[in-house]
Formats: sequence, structure tokens, C-alpha cells
Amino acid sequence: MAESGPLIVTGAAGFIGSHLCERLLSLGIRVVGVDNFDPFYDTAIKRANIDEVRRSAERLRASFELVELDLAEASPTRALFERVRPAGVIHLAAKAGVRPSIADPAAYARANVVATAVVLEESHRAGASRVVVASSSSVYGNASRVPFAEDDPANEPVSPYAATKRANELQCYSHWHLTRMPTACLRFFTVYGPRQRPDLAISTFLGKISRREDISVFGDGSSSRDYTFIDDIVSGVVASYRRIDRFGYRVWNLGGSAPVRLDEMLATISRVVGHEPRITRLPMQPGDVLRTWADLARSARELDYSPTTGFEDGVRRQWEWMKRA
Ligand SMILES: NC(=O)c1ccc[n+]([C@@H]2O[C@H](COP(=O)([O-])OP(=O)(O)OC[C@H]3O[C@@H](n4cnc5c(N)ncnc54)[C@H](O)[C@@H]3O)[C@@H](O)[C@H]2O)c1
Repeated sequence: MAESGPLIVTGAAGFIGSHLCERLLSLGIRVVGVDNFDPFYDTAIKRANIDEVRRSAERLRASFELVELDLAEASPTRALFERVRPAGVIHLAAKAGVRPSIADPAAYARANVVATAVVLEESHRAGASRVVVASSSSVYGNASRVPFAEDDPANEPVSPYAATKRANELQCYSHWHLTRMPTACLRFFTVYGPRQRPDLAISTFLGKISRREDISVFGDGSSSRDYTFIDDIVSGVVASYRRIDRFGYRVWNLGGSAPVRLDEMLATISRVVGHEPRITRLPMQPGDVLRTWADLARSARELDYSPTTGFEDGVRRQWEWMKRA
């Protein structure tokens, strides 16, 4: 993937961003990572992620620079993009998480909608060849038809977080319409693996079940998620970056292709850590969806996307990493 200038990766200190930076560096790409170390979860975890990226850059003799910046601030973001003149931009920065977005929707609108407007505008002004933007399976809401396909209606998001992600897709469309800068929106389906965000269920359950603590389980265990292993997501992001210029504006699902019920997920985690869970059952939470399931026909056809990591294997890899971290 030969590039004239560096790539800007936003959200570089986060779970997905840090893995993506390492993959790009391994492909010989210069990377400028941007992150504001939002305190949504322990920023020491984000510093540790960046330390890993820096170690990879040293080992690979590759070029990585980190810039601490709030992307909702237009002036410093413009100055950065003018200095770097990125060949392309992969925009992963966001406030993630469904439940906290219900508590503070305005903060989500700023971090997700305002910052995306700034990133799109500055990418175009700085002459970037293309932009890839993280969306989410949450845009499908509680759609009854499964699996979820990209052309299905996605107009009934059930949380402020999901609404910001759908808004991002619409922002990208109108920006592409006006500028013709190729723009991909990627609907990630619950991503897991080493460095997974600590607020996400697999991470929480691995920690608590291994310490024989009680876990809170929302609903009767029949809800399901299409979990996607981090290496598969990163492969999909890189493929979309390479191919978006053939499409102009495009939405792609990136999922794991096999939905896992919550009770199966708990059984898998129990096998992996070697303890039975102690469960407190609670009602489903507002904003949570019942199931997600990605139709991968388009991403398979257009990106050659094909997830390769099975669920139990992926959970074992996350657990091995948690024990080392
Ligand atoms: N992890 C998943 O399962 C999942 C699923 C669907 C979509 N996504 C999307 O993928 C992207 C990455 O998710 P993640 O799980 O790696 O989350 P993460 O929270 O680990 O990473 C996001 C990073 O963005 C940074 N950030 C937030 N606001 C910023 C701002 N205003 N300026 C600069 N940096 C800012 C945060 O500090 C954080 O390091 C997000 O856009 C998220 O919405 C993730």
C-alpha cells in the first residue's frame, strides 16, 4: 500500500485504533495518530496501547507520531491537517458505548457528530485522497429482518450513541456528494480481542468470572451479538481504505458472521477461564438491542472480507492477553 503522505488515524490510542496503527506500520505506511485521551475509560489503558504502538514502530523501524488533540476543536485540527497533508484519513475517534450516551447525549453529539464534521472538512481541505469512518451495527436498531444488510432502513436508532453513528453516515454522504472525496462508512459489529475496551461485556465477564465475582446479566440470555475479532476488523478497515476510490461513497458491514447468544457467550467464557459464572439477572437495559447479525455479502464481494477467527478461539486470545497485561 504505497502512499505519498502519512495516514492520519483518529482514535489511535483506543482499542481498534491502536491495532490499526500497528497493522498500517507493518505495511510500511507512515502513521500520525490523533487522540484526546477521553476519560470514558481509564486513560492509563490508552497510554499502554500507545506504548505498544510505539514499540511496534521501533521494531519495524516505521514512522509513528502521536498528536493529542480534541477533534471537535476546528482550529488546531486544521493546523494539524495542514502540517501533515495526509494521503488519507481513517476516523475511528468517538465516544463509544450505548448506555453512557443516554446519560450525556450532548457530549456524544460533540465528540461524534461535531468532530466528524471537522475531520471531513479538514481532510478535504488538506487534499486527502479518501476517508474511512467508523460507524456501528447499532444503526440497525431493533430491526426485525436478519441478517442486517447495508441497504436495509436504518432510521430507528434506539440510543443517542446509535443516532450519532447514523448521523456520521449521513454527514459522510453529503460531504461526498459535495466534494467527491471517496468516503467509506464501516458498520462494525461488537469487536473483541486483546485490548478490548473494559466497558464491553466479554472483557468485564472474563475479569469477574475469573475472580469468582458476581456478574450482572441483562435479559434472559437469549439476546445475541455478532462478535468480530479485532484482527478481522483491522483487515476489513485496510481493505475498505484500499478500495473505496472505486465506489465514491459506500457503507460496508464488518461482522463476524455467526451470532452468539448471551448464554452461549457466558458458557464459552466459563470454559476459557475454568470457572462457572455467578449470575444476577436484571431486566434488559434501555438502549440495548436484542440482536445483531451482519449480512456480509457486500463486504465479501467488494472487499474480499472474510472473518477467520472463531468465537472461542478469539475469547481465548483475549483471555491470554488479559492475563499478561
Ligand atoms: N468496539 C466496538 O465493538 C465497536 C463497535 C461498533 C463501532 N465502534 C466504533 O469504532 C470506533 C473505535 O472504537 P473503540 O472500541 O476502539 O473505542 P475506544 O474508546 O477504545 O477508542 C476511541 C478513541 O477515540 C478517542 N476520542 C474520543 N473523542 C475524541 C475527540 N473528540 N478527539 C480525539 N479523540 C477522541 C478516545 O480517547 C479513544 O481513545 C469508534 O468510532 C466506535 O464508535 C466500535
